[in-house]
Amino acid sequence: MQITVKPFENSFAAEIGGIDIQNSVNKQQFKIIHESFLKHKVLIFRNQPLDDEAHQNFGMLFGELDGHINKSTRHKALPSVQVFSNVKPNGETTGVHPEKGTQVWHTDKSYTATPSLTTILRSPEIARVGGDTLFADMTRAYDTLSENMKTDIENLFAVHDWVRSREKSNERAATPDEIKAAPPVKHPIVRTHPETGKKSLYIGNHSSHILGMKLKEGETILADLEAHATKQDLIYRHKWQIDDVLMWDNRCTMHCVEPYDAAKEKRSVHRVVVKGDAPV
Ligand SMILES: [Fe+2]
Repeated sequence: MQITVKPFENSFAAEIGGIDIQNSVNKQQFKIIHESFLKHKVLIFRNQPLDDEAHQNFGMLFGELDGHINKSTRHKALPSVQVFSNVKPNGETTGVHPEKGTQVWHTDKSYTATPSLTTILRSPEIARVGGDTLFADMTRAYDTLSENMKTDIENLFAVHDWVRSREKSNERAATPDEIKAAPPVKHPIVRTHPETGKKSLYIGNHSSHILGMKLKEGETILADLEAHATKQDLIYRHKWQIDDVLMWDNRCTMHCVEPYDAAKEKRSVHRVVVKGDAPV
């Protein structure tokens, strides 16, 4: 089977074909996937009916896996796998999307000192209407800023805070354990990709304010940068099919889930996250 890379027209993402992740990914295939990942930022693998163990093994090819702070979504037997589902064991829907923070623009685990390199998501159950995942290309977002704005933000740091992030997305309050596990951290607003050397905006819902700036002023700058980065012509919209596997580079993208009717539509995704470097 020959591995294929098909970039999408008018977008940065690409579809990878000619591979069976469940059964094996050889060195040559991994090399092509890795190069494509750096080039396209979001990769789509169609028709990959993985089990959780194969999903986890695929993630481990890219580095050390990182569990989620929210213990309620952890897979019972494989704690590195998170299950985000609105389907109860009896097959009915719970009526609510499992994590509201996923429905606002963010980059995964930026509230930690060493945020995610990549997230790998698979979709055993998809909504018939809504529930698309949207991606923003944060390298292009940076490149298309005015030169004045690039200079203004060059040396700024944002505070990323799990507690504040949950307040902003109207999620349940952080638990005492979560507060202890995820103290606020600071990251540069413009980060340099450790593998490509390209600069990207590094913001999103986990970023709460800008260090050394009045709270409101910093919030306004972050909101303006997000509005710029998420213009329609800069985003890729992923329409899920059953058994898609999606992986994205959290170091140079943001993403969010489009709303759907969580009372009518069943949606389950399984997630594996690979730990990355401290942003610089
Ligand atoms: Fe996410």
